[in-house]
Amino acid sequence: MKLVIFGVGGFIGSNLVEYLLDEGEHEIVGVDVSAEKLEGISGPRFQFIKADITTSQQLAEDLIAAGDVVVDLVAYANPSIYVEAPLEVIDLNYFENLRIARLCIKYEKRLMQYSTSEVYGKNPRGATFNEDDSDLILGPVSKHRWVYAAAKQLLERTIHAYGLRGDLDYTIVRPFNFVGPRFDYLVPAGSIGGPRVFAHFMSALVTGGPMFLVDGGRQRRSFTHIQDASTAFSVLLEHPDAHNEIVNVGNPATDTSIADLASLICDIYTELTGEQPQNEFIEISGEDFYGAGYEDANRVPPNIDKIKALGWQPQFDLEQTFRDAIAFNLDPSVHAPILRTAR
Ligand code: NAD
Ligand code: UGA
Repeated sequence: MKLVIFGVGGFIGSNLVEYLLDEGEHEIVGVDVSAEKLEGISGPRFQFIKADITTSQQLAEDLIAAGDVVVDLVAYANPSIYVEAPLEVIDLNYFENLRIARLCIKYEKRLMQYSTSEVYGKNPRGATFNEDDSDLILGPVSKHRWVYAAAKQLLERTIHAYGLRGDLDYTIVRPFNFVGPRFDYLVPAGSIGGPRVFAHFMSALVTGGPMFLVDGGRQRRSFTHIQDASTAFSVLLEHPDAHNEIVNVGNPATDTSIADLASLICDIYTELTGEQPQNEFIEISGEDFYGAGYEDANRVPPNIDKIKALGWQPQFDLEQTFRDAIAFNLDPSVHAPILRTAR
């Protein structure tokens, strides 16, 4: 198959391309505004095009017309951006993605659309998030952090409606906190906002700065090894029962609080380096860390019965997931850590 991947230069995209090139079964054309994370990833079956899908619309259309399957990974995916720039999130994560979906309809191409576990919102603990039964409960409009989940949910509903009408062949993926090599970017000591949690904790290990526990680190997440995420993609791409389905990709066995994760990360660092991290743990409110309009929620673990029935299950536990992610950042011969200013 010829896969057209939008957002190929991001964390998920760069790892997916590396995995698919190793598999050697598909031809890939990838588009992104940045190639930073694709350094060292190449092959005769992979063509990278540096372009912005919002301004290179004809290019995007031509690529979709010439491909077999479109994989849409483009989005703003860091909570700090939802708080700082909610309108940009709506524009990119809904309207730009919708344009890609409509082009898939026009050219009768299958769409693999990356959504998010965040669409489930605030469900209470004790249950699991289930694709076709769970309610989707978002916070108030004044807490504009939820703009990301709302945009992704409306995109899912639009795609689903096109599917109902028989216009679109799609699979919607709901990722649960994927982690691994090339995750986001590292930041200077003491930075707030900016990247997602693992990048912050990894930055603290590298710089010696504090680890911030937002709202005491009480929130829970389940994390997924990026290699499990890539194998899940292959299963969803190939399996006939994945068509016109919404599918959780996650690992319920890794459910942890963020405070426990911070301790685990320090332990793994010691195991890998022989050094005991001296980082201070600082509790901070969500609004002080991200800005006004932030609200957080516990996420319960995913129910993964649907994707298990297609023959996939996660292979990596919580420790190995973070061991691999940390080891990548400690190995300067592979890729030098990218240090950027958080804001
Ligand atoms: P990422 O930010 O690393 O990747 C997104 C990529 O899209 C970036 O490389 C960015 O440069 C590119 N992009 C943004 N605007 C663009 C434009 N106008 N034109 C071309 N490229 C553009 O994020 P990620 O973690 O790889 O996430 C990929 C997708 O998966 C997103 O839709 C995200 O919402 C979703 N998702 C990710 C996770 C996760 O755990 N990483 C969890 C849930 C959902
Ligand atoms: C993320 C993003 O919204 C998306 O990338 C993705 O769609 C979604 O998860 C998902 O996996 O489905 P979130 O899990 O809140 O959302 O993002 P993180 O920035 O990784 O935060 C996780 C938790 O750690 C939050 O409770 C946050 O407040 C906390 N945190 C973050 C800290 O305690 N310290 C930090 O330094 C950073």
